[in-house]
Amino acid sequence: MTKLYDHKDYNVPANRYGDDVEAVLIPEDALQARVQELADMVSEKYKDSEQDLMLVCVLKGAVFFLTDFARKLTIPCEMEFMAVSSYGNSTTSSGVVRILKDLDKEIEGRDVLVVEDIIDSGLTLSWLLKNLKGRGPKSLEVVTLLRKPEVQTAKIDLLDVGFDIPNEFVVGYGLDFAERYRDIPYVGTLHPNVYSELLGL
Ligand code: PRP
Repeated sequence: MTKLYDHKDYNVPANRYGDDVEAVLIPEDALQARVQELADMVSEKYKDSEQDLMLVCVLKGAVFFLTDFARKLTIPCEMEFMAVSSYGNSTTSSGVVRILKDLDKEIEGRDVLVVEDIIDSGLTLSWLLKNLKGRGPKSLEVVTLLRKPEVQTAKIDLLDVGFDIPNEFVVGYGLDFAERYRDIPYVGTLHPNVYSELLGL
């Protein structure tokens, strides 16, 4: 396991959610620098491909990562979107997945790169990869911005990971709690009282 990125900065930049964000886990500049490294690695890997790389974004959390990542690539790419729903409760996934929105295009014979925001248990992605593999892509790889190695149960081969983080609920840079906080430009943790209020605890 790589070292966890677990330094917290309690000097939280002003944001539209008042005091809800308790600490910054990954600041904006660190996120952008790592996304650049991932994009450089991917640009190099696929630079001699005959066809454009097809990026598959899993809505909604990965949207911010995808748009920054795609703009930092030096190779041509296409973008496809998928929406899935996991039959879990609000904080854990079950591994049983339903497709809410499928890809618009066939991926048979294409180089496909799934762009994910976070792997918790890994169950959603594990299901998705099996599904996509069945469609006959030429290659199928995954890059995820965040991973929680302490809770991942499904083994998944990854091209690369942005940051390994502790098992804490994180928001920002696409990640939500009850659909809020996605628009914050850094990854942070929430004050526990936000959970209790919204979950009615
Ligand atoms: C999150 C995230 C992953 C999944 C990870 O999506 O984007 O797809 O959960 O969990 P797992 O590894 O335990 O399966 P979520 O269902 O919260 O939807 P969202 O991206 O629309 O917020």
